[in-house]
Amino acid sequence: MNTPPATLTLLISGSGSNLAAIINAIAHKRLNARIERVIADRDCAGKQHAFSADIPFTLIDRHLPPNEFAEALNHAISEQTNLIVLAGFLSIIPKRLIARFPKKIINLHPSLLPKYGGMGMYGKKVHQAVIKAKEQESGCTIHYVDQGIDTGEIIAQARVPVYLQDTPETLQQRIQKQEHELLIHTLITLLHPKAF
Ligand code: GAR
Repeated sequence: MNTPPATLTLLISGSGSNLAAIINAIAHKRLNARIERVIADRDCAGKQHAFSADIPFTLIDRHLPPNEFAEALNHAISEQTNLIVLAGFLSIIPKRLIARFPKKIINLHPSLLPKYGGMGMYGKKVHQAVIKAKEQESGCTIHYVDQGIDTGEIIAQARVPVYLQDTPETLQQRIQKQEHELLIHTLITLLHPKAF
């Protein structure tokens, strides 16, 4: 008997390369899932991936008053969703949403947490800090979202070397390649544990 696909809600703010990786994994049947909605907190290039794949898309402006933002986000995510994936989502998740979906929200962060996480640490800022500190390795982390910022239980990490000649851009590219693979692998493990 075929297992019904797991349902995902994707939250994005940027180019959406991780969203594209998930769409691709579903298309190639690596992942038995369906993205029921993509939500962005700003106008971003990533929305094109949702449009091209005919996935319902909702824009919830991050400049809304916090209560309205929380209300809109809460309303846009259905009760049936199996997993909410923050794939480069840069707004803080409202506490009521975390309480509504315990252990059902995962975040992708571009460093080896607990290093280089927390308020203000996102995207290229993370890579700039890693290079400035002369770290020899960095990577990415997938973790459950709890009430703190980048503090939830770690699910998986991937490591990459940092080279002397790296710029934030070159380091970001190296890490993003790992992110795409780590994200798909983690989703397969969480959604279809029997596959392992
Ligand atoms: C990813 O590198 C992700 O790790 C980072 O945003 C990028 C989004 O890329 N997330 C954070 O910094 C969260 N604190 P994408 O839009 O191409 O998927």
